[in-house]
Amino acid sequence: MKNILVIGSTGQIGSELTMKLRREIEGSVVVAGYIPGAEPKGILLESGPAEIVDVTNAQQIADVVSRYHIDTIYNLAALLSAVAEAKPLLAWHIQMDGLINILEVARQYNCAVFTPSSIGSFGHNTPHKNTPQDTIQRPQTMYGVTKVATELLSDYYFHKYGVDTRSVRFPGLISNVTLPGGGTTDYAVEIYYAAVKGEDFACPIKPGTYMDMMYMPDALHAAVQIMDADPSRLIHRNSFNIASMSFEPEEIHKEILLFEPEFRMHYIDDPIRQAIAMSWPDNMDDSCAREEWDWCPTYDLHTMSEDMFACLRKRFGKK
Ligand code: SER
Repeated sequence: MKNILVIGSTGQIGSELTMKLRREIEGSVVVAGYIPGAEPKGILLESGPAEIVDVTNAQQIADVVSRYHIDTIYNLAALLSAVAEAKPLLAWHIQMDGLINILEVARQYNCAVFTPSSIGSFGHNTPHKNTPQDTIQRPQTMYGVTKVATELLSDYYFHKYGVDTRSVRFPGLISNVTLPGGGTTDYAVEIYYAAVKGEDFACPIKPGTYMDMMYMPDALHAAVQIMDADPSRLIHRNSFNIASMSFEPEEIHKEILLFEPEFRMHYIDDPIRQAIAMSWPDNMDDSCAREEWDWCPTYDLHTMSEDMFACLRKRFGKK
């Protein structure tokens, strides 16, 4: 990959992935695609080209892909699970109409495409422990419906047209550059910000509710590594389970207390997020990703926490 378009470059994943690609892929042009109202700023704006790319506008995608001779598209435009329940039609429009626009452009201009799937692509009747790579996917959220359809449509374009589509099912992603917005796993990010700022934390997820989580550097590594993988080894494409840690609110609370002994957390009722969380896996089996493209995460809850506290304390000028 040389000429890359990141759509959704100012979001939680995009803001870090764009910079990683610019830093690490020699001779690359990495275009930061954004929508009005979410303009890139600072280093993201200064370190490379930026263009308005609204996924719902097929012509706009085609123009940028053609102008920059793009060969790889990272499609990160999406509404997360809780906000998608509040705006289901908009979620469908962005996630599905947007995806088919991108896949059509990719077919025409011969681009590889990465569109993430998620733990949200599973539902109540999926086995929740060691969730297999190939299993029941009958989610009852709009987010989940669009993620299963994303997997199917991406595989369809590969089989029918040879478009090089690949993806991973991201766990809840924990990061310290850009906050996520409107997800079910956001609590595991917000808890660190509250701890560093010395604020009490209201946890919307009940104790005992396990979900897969991952630190952003591992997630970014997966996004780059899978697009570089030897295609002859890939039995699966859309989409691979990837995992690194699974915890529930009491476990992360205990971990945070190791760094901020005064930290206080209480629980609040959030029936929408709780119902979504209960329908998702406790922990996924990622052996296919390990076998087919050597996936291997590096962070666990403790090493992630060390890094999160170091980064956030620096940012907020704390000890
Ligand atoms: N982090 C997402 C959410 O909570 C799941 O992939 O919606």
